[in-house]
Amino acid sequence: MGRIFSVMSGKGGVGKSTLSAALAEYYARMGKRVVLMDGDIGQRCADLMLNLQDRVVYDLGDVAENNCELDQALLAHPRLPALSLLAAPQLLTVSDVKRKEMDKIITALSENSDILVLDAPAGIGKGLKNLLGSTAEPVIVATPDDVSIRDAERVNAMLRNLEEPSASLVLNRVHPLWVRKGLIPTPEQIALALDLPLAGVIPESPKVYKALLRHETPLGCGDRNMVKAIEVLAARLLGADAPLPEYAPSAMLRFFQRGGEA
Ligand SMILES: Nc1ncnc2c1ncn2[C@@H]1O[C@H](COP(=O)(O)OP(=O)(O)O)[C@@H](O)[C@H]1O
Ligand SMILES: [Mg+2]
Repeated sequence: MGRIFSVMSGKGGVGKSTLSAALAEYYARMGKRVVLMDGDIGQRCADLMLNLQDRVVYDLGDVAENNCELDQALLAHPRLPALSLLAAPQLLTVSDVKRKEMDKIITALSENSDILVLDAPAGIGKGLKNLLGSTAEPVIVATPDDVSIRDAERVNAMLRNLEEPSASLVLNRVHPLWVRKGLIPTPEQIALALDLPLAGVIPESPKVYKALLRHETPLGCGDRNMVKAIEVLAARLLGADAPLPEYAPSAMLRFFQRGGEA
């Protein structure tokens, strides 16, 4: 049975699918057998993130409804055979896929992979709850603003109430300069406020959105800082002690902030 990372958030649009796809691709490039499962029923998008949208025949809903075998719905990446995708249904709703079916699919996928990445829907609704209860390790994604931080707190409180495994935090879309200027709290301050261990800090990068527009994967976006941050996140999720980026104010900035005094 492999590791399962369940990528979730309180607020939508914080980068769960982007980071799930990047992590899945990264682990597969490292030689792990990886499955990315799009758990956002009705809001399929992981296929687009991996540029596999023209190849999807069956999806998670077909497996749940016994229209096909799980193997038939698993889509191997043509350039990266270690990476497979289980696409989300587009036309079903959350209530159409029963929790029991979801559990069965997640267990079967994790038995046949080293790493299973579950790209969860936003919020603390049924869509997320249907994905819980397995041995998945929750990874909460937030952006460094109060709305997203507050919503992350709610997800974490729900996980704790349900006695789920403890979560780790990934801060996405962090502007290093804004942290250095003190416009946003440091990632460590946010993690402390949420009482969550910090697994990763991913920089804001215009190349991520450009990659999406060009149907390139987030990991293939061409931003070295982004790729490095995913590498650190991937390592830390597996328990390695990879250092997080230092966003302390630079000596030059401190000099200017003090008004140029030596
Ligand atoms: N680090 C980043 N820098 C810039 N844009 C990002 C970053 N991460 C995600 N995005 C963009 O944010 C938008 C929402 O991302 P997505 O992964 O779909 O969020 P979610 O799955 O949480 O709803 C997308 O347009 C994506 O390209
Ligand atoms: Mg998403």
